[in-house]
Amino acid sequence: MRILITGVAGFIGFHLAKKLIEQGHEIVGIDNINDYYTPTLKRLRLSELDSKKFKFYESDINKIDNFDQNFDLVINLAAQAGVRIKKEQEINYINSNIYGFKNICNFCSRNKIKRIIYASSSSVYDDSNSEPFSESKTLIKPKSVYGMSKLFNEVYASAFASENNMSFLGLRLFSVYGPYGRPDMAYFSFTDSIKRDEVVRLHNDGSMARDMTYIDDVIEGISASIDYLIKEDLNGRNEIFNLGNNSPIMTSFLLNSLKENLNIEPKVKRINTSNESVFTHANLSKSKRILGYNPKTSFEDGIKEFLNWHKTYENL
Ligand SMILES: NC(=O)c1ccc[n+]([C@@H]2O[C@H](COP(=O)([O-])OP(=O)(O)OC[C@H]3O[C@@H](n4cnc5c(N)ncnc54)[C@H](O)[C@@H]3O)[C@@H](O)[C@H]2O)c1
Repeated sequence: MRILITGVAGFIGFHLAKKLIEQGHEIVGIDNINDYYTPTLKRLRLSELDSKKFKFYESDINKIDNFDQNFDLVINLAAQAGVRIKKEQEINYINSNIYGFKNICNFCSRNKIKRIIYASSSSVYDDSNSEPFSESKTLIKPKSVYGMSKLFNEVYASAFASENNMSFLGLRLFSVYGPYGRPDMAYFSFTDSIKRDEVVRLHNDGSMARDMTYIDDVIEGISASIDYLIKEDLNGRNEIFNLGNNSPIMTSFLLNSLKENLNIEPKVKRINTSNESVFTHANLSKSKRILGYNPKTSFEDGIKEFLNWHKTYENL
């Protein structure tokens, strides 16, 4: 298939493109290589995608209109990610996650591309009860602007799919981690700080928990979503799936695991945060039943894979 991946220089886009190229697909990627975190890492990822089967455009998704139009499927991963960003960066949620997403939808409709997979997030859920988060929950109130922008994607996709008779599949991703990961996420920034003997900023005494999901498992989940979308004609529908791990990890546990693996005592500064979910926890019944999604990587194995990669990365 000929597939467009937006945000291809990002953490998940890179791993997905690599896998799909290996499977023989032709991949066109787009990314604006913004400096939310170091563009050097984004360019490193791109350099590893070098292949006859891969073509890259450095561009914003808001300017996609005239470059390349012939795709079997579009996978939209480009976004301003992260819930903790500077106030002045919040405009990026609007520009990339809202206007950018709308532009991708219109691009697909104009060019008769019927299938779109897009990244939503566990941040659309709130943590007001202790049940694992299920896609069937209808009253959801995101705690962050980021979460709201992702919920907008889902609501917009439902209306757009039905108006234009297209098939949309939204993936609520839960704290994805692994090699080539995102330096702004706790597991990565804690590792950097511990190795540099800098202070680790630990929120709410480490009592928050995230359903950390290893990148290879998420990529398997996205592959299964592609197969499902190709096989099933959703005919004007937008289907939502959780891709998580059903095994939340407390931040204090994460910090301790990094301490033991690195054999360095971290310097810790404790901070209180109030506007973030205390925990995230995916109910995987639907994605297991329909997609055959089955995450296999334990946190202990996954974090070791990340730390092995980090050794090579820090020496670049
Ligand atoms: N990593 C996670 O734990 C996680 C969890 C939930 C949801 N998600 C979502 O998955 C997707 C991929 O996340 P990631 O972790 O790979 O993030 P990432 O920041 O590494 O990748 C996103 C990429 O999109 C690019 N981009 C941003 N705005 C753009 C624009 N307007 N035009 C073109 N390119 C643009 C960035 O340069 C970046 O390379 C995002 O939509 C994110 O919100 C990620």
